[in-house]
Amino acid sequence: MKLTVLDHPLVDHKLTVLRSKDTPSATFRQLVSELVTLEAYEATRDLTVEDVPVDTPVAHTVGKRITDPRPMIVPILRAGLGMLDGMMTLLPTAEVGFLGMKRDERTLDIITYANRLPDDLSGRQCFLLDPMLATGGTLVAAINYLYERGARTITSLNVIAAPEGIKRLETEVSPSIDFHVVTCALDDHLNEQAYIVPGLGDAGDRLYGVV
Ligand code: URA
Repeated sequence: MKLTVLDHPLVDHKLTVLRSKDTPSATFRQLVSELVTLEAYEATRDLTVEDVPVDTPVAHTVGKRITDPRPMIVPILRAGLGMLDGMMTLLPTAEVGFLGMKRDERTLDIITYANRLPDDLSGRQCFLLDPMLATGGTLVAAINYLYERGARTITSLNVIAAPEGIKRLETEVSPSIDFHVVTCALDDHLNEQAYIVPGLGDAGDRLYGVV
């Protein structure tokens, strides 16, 4: 597993405003979008490209284009939806699938309650979106899900990660999976309610209001 924690003044500034409990939902959504767009630049560094001829007004030359099959963006419902626009800004030709996952509070197993993805992801470069990498349980399940369907590489974009979640990914995701985590920040720890500290609270609630 490869881990990238962004180190950039714009990211630090936007993240600080995002964390503040006084930041209203509209500003929060806008900042998440901007942060994801900045992350996307780093997260797509290993996209595969091929040579393609192009005629400029001046000359014939050879450029690059993203190869087929198209990359697949997979927001994890509900909070991952808040990251979709920012990702599509940089990768408008990607396909989008959706995964709804939650924890069964009795068994603590991860249940997939919504799935809008092709069964066959052979050769696809997949980008999972989930703002908060807390315990890592959902992400481990999502990675396995994509891998079992043939995904070639899997990159997780998160806004904030907890060390406990990163450790879980390192121990529970098979080393044979080509897997990359990109996050704007690696915070201190999880509290007893599995909230990231200092974090930003419940990302879904802050994006969409409490339901
Ligand atoms: N999910 C959230 O929305 N916030 C956290 O701090 C942890 C998980």
